[in-house]
Amino acid sequence: MLEAGRIASGVSGHTTAKVSAQHALIYDHLRRIGTETAARYGAAQLAAIDWIATESEALGVDCEFTRRDSFVYSTKERQRTKLKQEAEAAAAAGLPASYLEDTDLPVAAAGAVRFTNQAQFHPRKWLLALADEIEALGSQVHEGTRALSLSERRVSVVHTDRGDVRAKDVVVATHYPAFDRGGFFARLEPTRELAVSGLVPADSAPSSMSLDADTHYSVRTTPDGAPDQTRLIVLGESYRTGQRVDVEARYAQLAEWSNQILGLREVTHRWSAHDMSTPDKIPYVGRYHPAARHLWVATGFRQWGMTNGTAAAHLLHDLVLGIADPAQRDLFDPNRVNVRSVPTVVHANTVVAAHFGGDRARAALNRSKLEDLGPDEATVTRVGAALVAGYRDPSGELHAVSARCTHMGCAVNFNNAEKSWDCPCHASRFALDGSVLHGPAVKPLDRLTPTSNAEPAIDRPDHGA
Ligand SMILES: Cc1cc2nc3c(=O)[nH]c(=O)nc-3n(C[C@H](O)[C@H](O)[C@H](O)COP(=O)(O)OP(=O)(O)OC[C@H]3O[C@@H](n4cnc5c(N)ncnc54)[C@H](O)[C@@H]3O)c2cc1C
Ligand code: FES
Repeated sequence: MLEAGRIASGVSGHTTAKVSAQHALIYDHLRRIGTETAARYGAAQLAAIDWIATESEALGVDCEFTRRDSFVYSTKERQRTKLKQEAEAAAAAGLPASYLEDTDLPVAAAGAVRFTNQAQFHPRKWLLALADEIEALGSQVHEGTRALSLSERRVSVVHTDRGDVRAKDVVVATHYPAFDRGGFFARLEPTRELAVSGLVPADSAPSSMSLDADTHYSVRTTPDGAPDQTRLIVLGESYRTGQRVDVEARYAQLAEWSNQILGLREVTHRWSAHDMSTPDKIPYVGRYHPAARHLWVATGFRQWGMTNGTAAAHLLHDLVLGIADPAQRDLFDPNRVNVRSVPTVVHANTVVAAHFGGDRARAALNRSKLEDLGPDEATVTRVGAALVAGYRDPSGELHAVSARCTHMGCAVNFNNAEKSWDCPCHASRFALDGSVLHGPAVKPLDRLTPTSNAEPAIDRPDHGA
């Protein structure tokens, strides 16, 4: 197992960790694709929850796995029909779902879909234990090893920044698929979400997990030491990764809602992460491209990777061994063609095209000068022939890198909360020094050393292989 950073430091280490088959509103949508589709999808999620419950107990992993009911609600009366249809579709698909209007949720819900006996856990405790188990079973985990490219052969070669690895079967589970084949960049939609957390009095904390169907604000709680206090985790304010938004203002909005509705007086932690969706909302798990025989992928979990990722692992196991259930294989097939999804794909690519042309043109026309940047200010501007992303830190030091994403050349935008350069096209993210924080890019942005808007000197980092 090759891991670019540390185990569980990616999205899975920054998830809300609801372990639930209730994936916002999805079953009515899936039922329209086919009743069997909804039933198979639901069964895979329930099986994943049960597997985590059984396996964590068998391995003796204290990952705080706790059963909870899960709610998706709306505060708008006009959404009741939609919620009823979702409950009906989910129940018909075999899920423990019901519709209700009388809830003890902390918000004034007009209606809600409840799934009973779902769960939550501590994702890092679970994943670190699984990594130990991989080694205990005689395999190897190599952290700090980034896969850069792949030579697909009878025995494939993964080229990493620390050497080559040969394997008959290669599973690419790098969140955004790391290798540019299979056309995933045209089919995956990245959505970033913010999270805030803090302590509230235990007697006022909600006991269930909930999600607003309209705003996608998500809430869960977890014990945190003191018996009279409970930790609240609130998620929301989603936006397309890399889009030009004031992320700080979004954090403030989420904190304000958490205070007003849930009594969260002080935010002690905050973080954000993103996940990708496929056009038909079903993950891509299986052959990397139609001709692939031993190259596999798992991606597009649509904010529900705790169960979808677990289901993916089981399916990949069966696919590699050639024992997969054909119906399950077809459901998650990355190369499936779904005519209904065409408008979504077209729209997503129009957005990418607009970013590719529009953001670069805007940056090229930007007249702001790097030397004029004040403390904690950033800009993307033209310096000589280059598009430069510049940020002056609070100590006055200027950090400048190429603004051209190393994946496919879109112009990056500044994330003012995380002090990173984020790409709006396919969600690559880079640190101030240009190093890759998140793929699909595998190469860093060129570091530049401009002192003014004259031609910058390029300080090209070692790109490895
Ligand atoms: C804010 C937020 C909240 C969420 N809440 C929930 C929830 O409550 N319940 C739920 O079910 N799901 C939730 N999700 C979704 C879930 O967290 C994700 O679907 C899941 O974590 C994705 O797992 P992954 O293994 O694909 O990606 P990751 O966990 O990011 O793992 C991919 C790994 O690949 C490594 N990597 C990347 N590129 C390379 C490379 N080139 N070479 C080597 N290694 C590489 C990365 O370092 C990373 O460790 C949430 C998602 C977000 C963003
Ligand atoms: S992530 Fe694809 S161009 Fe930036």
